[in-house]
Amino acid sequence: MPPVRAPKGKLETAKKGTLKRLLKILFKNYKFQLIFSAICIVLYSLGNIASSVFMSVVTNTLESATTGRISPTQAWSSMITTLIVIGIIYIIGMASAYGYNYTMSVTSQRFLNTLRKQMFNHMESLPIKYFDTHPRGDIMSLYTNDIDTIRQLVSQAIPTAFQAGFTVIGAIAAMLLFSPILTVLVIIGSMAMFMNAKTMGGKSAKYFVKQQIATGKVEGNIEESIKGLKVIKVFSHEEKSIEDFDKINDQLCKDSTSANEASNILAPINGNIGNILYVILIVVGVLFIIQGWEINPGLQLVIGDTFSVSYGIGKITYSIIFFFLIACRTFSNNVNNFTQQITFITMGQAGASRIFDLLDEQSETDSGYVTLVNVIKHEDGSLEETSERTRTYAWKHPHKADGTITYTELKGDIVIDDVDFGYNQDQLVLHNVSIYAHPGQRIAFVGATGAGKTTITNLINRFYDIADGKIRYDGININKIKKDDLRRSLGIVLQDTNLFTGTVMENIRYGRLDATDEEVYEAAKIANAYDFITRLPEGFNTMLSGDGANLSQGQRQLLSIARAAVADAPVMILDEATSSIDTRTEKLVQKGMDMLMKGRTVFVIAHRLSTVQDSEAIMVLDHGRIIERGTHQDLINKKGVYYQLYTGAFELE
Ligand SMILES: Nc1ncnc2c1ncn2[C@@H]1O[C@H](COP(=O)(O)OP(=O)(O)OP(=O)(O)O)[C@@H](O)[C@H]1O
Ligand SMILES: [Mg+2]
Repeated sequence: MPPVRAPKGKLETAKKGTLKRLLKILFKNYKFQLIFSAICIVLYSLGNIASSVFMSVVTNTLESATTGRISPTQAWSSMITTLIVIGIIYIIGMASAYGYNYTMSVTSQRFLNTLRKQMFNHMESLPIKYFDTHPRGDIMSLYTNDIDTIRQLVSQAIPTAFQAGFTVIGAIAAMLLFSPILTVLVIIGSMAMFMNAKTMGGKSAKYFVKQQIATGKVEGNIEESIKGLKVIKVFSHEEKSIEDFDKINDQLCKDSTSANEASNILAPINGNIGNILYVILIVVGVLFIIQGWEINPGLQLVIGDTFSVSYGIGKITYSIIFFFLIACRTFSNNVNNFTQQITFITMGQAGASRIFDLLDEQSETDSGYVTLVNVIKHEDGSLEETSERTRTYAWKHPHKADGTITYTELKGDIVIDDVDFGYNQDQLVLHNVSIYAHPGQRIAFVGATGAGKTTITNLINRFYDIADGKIRYDGININKIKKDDLRRSLGIVLQDTNLFTGTVMENIRYGRLDATDEEVYEAAKIANAYDFITRLPEGFNTMLSGDGANLSQGQRQLLSIARAAVADAPVMILDEATSSIDTRTEKLVQKGMDMLMKGRTVFVIAHRLSTVQDSEAIMVLDHGRIIERGTHQDLINKKGVYYQLYTGAFELE
């Protein structure tokens, strides 16, 4: 098996401003939900801090009761009031936590739903070129891995970081109110925690990014192995394939271990710093009490006959120490929470950056304004537009200058005039190609593999664009025709058959969604697919899955011919449409097609020369150049390359 391509290693480098752009979109679309969540988060954080303050009121009450400043009855009533307040604060806190968690998880799912829709819509609008240059696995991982990092970012990382950040700031503010001296100790401790988070967190974020790349590789390998299973078996490469898988699977294991090691070390180290801080606070606080130092500026709570709060310089009390111990816990937990989100934020940014890359990709441009309409052709030759399906079509050409509209009957006259084309700028695939296909003519392309046959059809249906005026359709420059309408006028059987998950009926009807059942049967008969379909277990209702894995290659081709037949388009392009079909069936298909082709311009590409013999004009292509053209008889008489090909005396290379 070929080595599995590594996903683009762009993960680390989220574009600048990605987070801002993401937040902007979120805020624009979910303003209410975000404001509501922010309020809940603030309430929750304030509740957290307030409960530690009230816990210190409890100790203060106890202190007052034991020193005889208040009677036991007063102590009880004060205690109960405080506990009720704490209870209410907890209930509000819990409700707020539920409020923001629920809102954010619903919001993030809605956001992702819209984002996926947007991505898919945009992806459908991208030119074929995009898919030539972006591997399928990479595009797929945008919808799975990258979307998931955004889910984590929006539903978890951002709210948690905001909540933790707010709580940390709030806790510091509350601490400062009670004792700036002890607060200094906490700030020193928190700096140590942040430094640890920076080193360990940075390391773990780096490994998490590596883990993402490795996961992508494992996924890519599995996908490729399933797709190439038959090739693996044919060449007995199972062992090699297992070996390849083991290698990348081990890498994933290594990177995930390193990522988790670093992040797993981070929390205990910070936890220990928190514990040390705890002890230091007790020691310093008790020292202040023993020494009776009255140098602490802060709020003085006095619970006596009356409850009074004042600000001034005083002693550090047990209740202040108690408050600090609780606040310190809240504080260090939240510093930890905050730092843990850094990894998710980094990963989310990287994911969002790649999704934005897709969304920023330039859509297929279509400046076409000439459209295809059904018309009624009157005896005097005039055309009248109608919404009915008349099977007579015209190009509707609005003229901006004078506001008039002209109709040109669709005849299928295609002129390719001296076209040079290359998929990449530095390599031309077609050289000076000129073709004149008159209405009703069958034009065939023959030539070696890679000669450029499919490329010519890619230009006619505008999968790739070329300079203005080089290809004319009924005298109209195809760049002026709306792409949808242009393609609607072409019945195309592509070289690669592609069936979708669905019934046989649905797959044929894909050619024209409003086709009736009868029309589908008729198309199946033309393509000579009717017989085999009726022999399928459930006939036209047989489900096809996995690109029609339950059909033979030839049967799949017959279905794509039926699909083109049901489209009933005035011009047909058949790229190797019958290459996998036996010669006898091909003759039958040919007969059906002859009926269908009557009056239509048809481009056929075939390796079998017997298929193209009846064509009005045969173009022999070699390395992107037309080297001979004429009818079968002309070319035979000419005794050139075609003659030699036909008689088997010469092979194109
Ligand atoms: N999407 C693409 N990007 C870059 N080069 C391409 C692309 N598609 C085809 N080519 C190149 O263009 C040349 C012509 O390819 P084309 O598919 O037109 O050949 P063909 O005549 O249809 O061959 P075959 O008989 O095998 O179908 C080839 O050299 C091929 O490598
Ligand atoms: Mg081809």
